Amino acid sequence: MKKIDVVLGLQWGDEGKGKVVDVLTPEYKVIARFQGGPNAGHSLVFDGDGFVLHTVPSGIFRPDSVNVIGNGVVIDPVILMEEIRAIEQRAGSITDKLLISKRAHLILPTHRMLDAASEAAKGKGKIGSTLKGIGPTYMDKTGRNGLRIGDILSPEFQARYDALKQKHFGLLSQYDFEYDITEYEQKWMQAVEELRRFSFIDSERVINDYLDRDVPVLAEGAQGSMLDIDFGTYPFVTSSNTMTAGVCTGLGVAPNRVGKVMGIFKAYCTRVGSGPFPTELFDGTGEELRRIGHEYGATTGRPRRCGWLDLVALKYAVMMNGVSELIMMKADVLNTFKTIKVATAYEIGGKQVDWFPFESGEEVKPVYREFPGWDCDICGVREYEDFPQELKDYIGFIEEQTGCPVRIISVGPDRKEIVIRPER
Ligand code: GDP
Ligand code: IMO
Ligand code: MG
Repeated sequence: MKKIDVVLGLQWGDEGKGKVVDVLTPEYKVIARFQGGPNAGHSLVFDGDGFVLHTVPSGIFRPDSVNVIGNGVVIDPVILMEEIRAIEQRAGSITDKLLISKRAHLILPTHRMLDAASEAAKGKGKIGSTLKGIGPTYMDKTGRNGLRIGDILSPEFQARYDALKQKHFGLLSQYDFEYDITEYEQKWMQAVEELRRFSFIDSERVINDYLDRDVPVLAEGAQGSMLDIDFGTYPFVTSSNTMTAGVCTGLGVAPNRVGKVMGIFKAYCTRVGSGPFPTELFDGTGEELRRIGHEYGATTGRPRRCGWLDLVALKYAVMMNGVSELIMMKADVLNTFKTIKVATAYEIGGKQVDWFPFESGEEVKPVYREFPGWDCDICGVREYEDFPQELKDYIGFIEEQTGCPVRIISVGPDRKEIVIRPER
């Protein structure tokens, strides 16, 4: 019996999940997204070209792959159809290789408005949401009001849509917020019609069938562990479980069918939007990381906040995800840094803690360990042995601290710029 393998982000998102899933897809037949929605932006680079995916799994460009949007995902038909059109322009029809769960919830135009109204009302305390309607849609899901992909096929769909819209209008009237959904609603209804050419499936059944038949399946996470609704830096988080547990609820796979968990992290740290970020740098070094790493959001274009690697947060994420192997991204961004720092503990109120605490705001001061940089270009390296000793020492320290092997090291955005170590 096959188990489902998992790739997910261990930091605040944008670790490089899209690239890794694209690289690993030839080893798998099925790629399935289990949570999140168009707040995600997963970049792929191949044949000299870049592509950003939001809702479609990152296996879509590989021939013969099956790509499943699971029940835990929330879907905006307008954004999904725009994405599908762009993919098809480049790769031909994907009608047969994209399957959508009937149980995935729909993001309505009014969900987007509610997201915007709620953020505007929060003023300085805003989450920094991508404003794609994620929070309000998951609220309607848990509040048992939502509309799902399978409902599109119901003769009552329009009536149920109208009823939910009216409910949202009521909620919106409590905000001092102007809006007009006419144009977006038209596009939305048209996109809903266009989506009908895809198979709406019972994804839990389909995925378990694949596993029963020994077909390799990979689950692709969105966002990152520190944005998890339960264990992230609440309330500055997203509205879904971004961790391994989310694979079970977001695809209908039992915990004992989860196989390898591959946790991705950047060789440093970034965050976009508001909220605690203990190792954030406000100086020239932070600016260098942003400039060299092109740290601007793939979905919103916002500059990403940058800082050093945080091992306290990373160890917390490794523990809760049951990470079996680590994948380090963007090692090349550190090529020119003379000194590289890593937070190994926090100081809070004069005491050192090596555990990710409930309070992770300004009162938390990182305690750093310094490493000499490698000061050379590693983009062309393809074998681990060819890495400079300083990088090997940096990786060795991360392995020792987390108790997890670093199996893959990414040295550039392209599909080919990767070093994969044999399993030890
Ligand atoms: P995701 O949301 O986790 O898929 O990550 P994003 O796509 O939002 O952000 C990662 C960014 O880093 C993208 O622009 C990638 O093209 C780029 N990238 C991925 N891996 C590497 C790498 O090893 N080196 C460099 N320099 N860029 C990378
Ligand atoms: P990928 O999959 C980085 C952040 C937003 C905001 C918070 C809540 O590309 O790694 P939401 O729109 O979910 O209500 O926003 O979460 N956020 C992400 N940050 N990468 C993402 O996805 C993100 N998705 C949401 O910036 O702070
Ligand atoms: Mg991203």
